[in-house]
Amino acid sequence: MNETYAPEADARLRTEAAQIVARYPDPRSALLPMLHLVQSEDGYVSARGIALCADLLDLSRPEVSAVATFYSQYKRHPNGEYTVGVCTNALCAVMGGDIIWDRLTDHLGIGNDETTADGRITLEQVECNAACDYAPVVMVNWEFFDNQTPTSAVDLVDQIAAGVPVHPTRGADTVATFKEISHVLAGFEDGRADEGPGAGEATLLGLRMARENGWTAPRVVPGAPAEPDEEPAAQSPADAKSPGAAPAADVAAAAAAGTAPVGREQSSAERKPTTESDVSPEPIRDEGKGNVQ
Ligand code: FES
Repeated sequence: MNETYAPEADARLRTEAAQIVARYPDPRSALLPMLHLVQSEDGYVSARGIALCADLLDLSRPEVSAVATFYSQYKRHPNGEYTVGVCTNALCAVMGGDIIWDRLTDHLGIGNDETTADGRITLEQVECNAACDYAPVVMVNWEFFDNQTPTSAVDLVDQIAAGVPVHPTRGADTVATFKEISHVLAGFEDGRADEGPGAGEATLLGLRMARENGWTAPRVVPGAPAEPDEEPAAQSPADAKSPGAAPAADVAAAAAAGTAPVGREQSSAERKPTTESDVSPEPIRDEGKGNVQ
């Protein structure tokens, strides 16, 4: 790979980098999305990408390299078009993740952080993806493929290798390439955030049971002894109008203690429905794709 970018790519990257840097009070804070931007161009964090980041953020090249080598999402050698990540953390492992991993390494003939000869697939052994309720999970470019088996995982990589579009169980309708998804991670939306279902049945089951049974977590007031049997405080009219806000009693208690209130801000459970699967009590099956939303 050339040591510098061609003029057109250099100008484009510098324009997008300026947009990223403008989001932060201090330019060096933009380094993580900048590294994704470099990956969206080169397919990995290249030497010329490191030089660009260092130049634009007033950092040294070793400082940029130190960050790029710390996080496993940044690749230091050319990555495949699709990263297939097999979770072998505790729950996925006992549910079959280790067997899936062994099957895929045998089937593809590559190991961790290695890429097939055609450049299509990079295989990765990944840590918990916070999808334990669908264990064992496989990720393709960080899109979820839930409840996998060795057979379904082999089918999945065979489809990717053959260029057949694959459909995640949740999230976007199809899987973007490694470069495309790197551009999104750099902070440039691709307009697909509301495609497909978000939370699935297994994730929402506990929340539904809690609501049906009136269960709530005990309120925690910093410095006060735990009161597990305390009745939940009545909501004020303001709480009722604003379901995402912390209850007024919590706000007052936190203010008295000089701390921030522990509230329900940004709860995805309160997200406005945007798709049919957001409001349907039944799983939605798309017969054309065979997936359950
Ligand atoms: S252990 Fe695999 S998603 Fe949590």
